[in-house]
Amino acid sequence: MTLIRLPDLAATEQLGKRIAEALRPGDVVALTGGLGAGKTTLARAIIGALGYAGEVPSPSFAIIEVYDPPRIRLRVVHADFYRLEDPEEVEELGLDDYRADAALIAEWPEHAGGFTKELACLSVEIEILDNERVAIVEPGPDWLERGGWT
Ligand SMILES: Nc1ncnc2c1ncn2[C@@H]1O[C@H](COP(=O)(O)OP(=O)(O)OP(=O)(O)O)[C@@H](O)[C@H]1O
Ligand SMILES: [Mg+2]
Repeated sequence: MTLIRLPDLAATEQLGKRIAEALRPGDVVALTGGLGAGKTTLARAIIGALGYAGEVPSPSFAIIEVYDPPRIRLRVVHADFYRLEDPEEVEELGLDDYRADAALIAEWPEHAGGFTKELACLSVEIEILDNERVAIVEPGPDWLERGGWT
């Protein structure tokens, strides 16, 4: 587990860059934390650092947004599962098909059953403590040899 202070947007940008540099197809970046914690902001930083120059809408309405090469270094599925009422709805969304050759960045992953059992899951919890954000990063086994997380 690694604690990273996110006092400002620049710090979130930097964390996004660090994650993007290590990101591979098959990965999950599971972003937890309450409403307004900064999950979409971090997802945008990752997608931007992967080379995507366009607008990145919050997936809170569409649930799933997909970014495909060549506009981005690798296929990314950005999802916000907040509105799911039952984790089984994930199958109806066709998430597994979207995820082929893609990295998944998931907001509210716990509403989709959570992905923490996947070996390639990087869990990032954003907490607001004393008016300052902190990211608690927990790497799954596949992340231990990359990114310098411990
Ligand atoms: N590190 C940071 N420092 C200061 N402000 C931040 C930081 N990260 C995010 N914010 C601000 O917090 C607000 C909410 O961010 P964001 O939309 O990313 O939250 P969220 O976790 O995705 O919320 P939701 O659960 O509604 O999807 C935005 O105005 C954003 O600019
Ligand atoms: Mg969001």
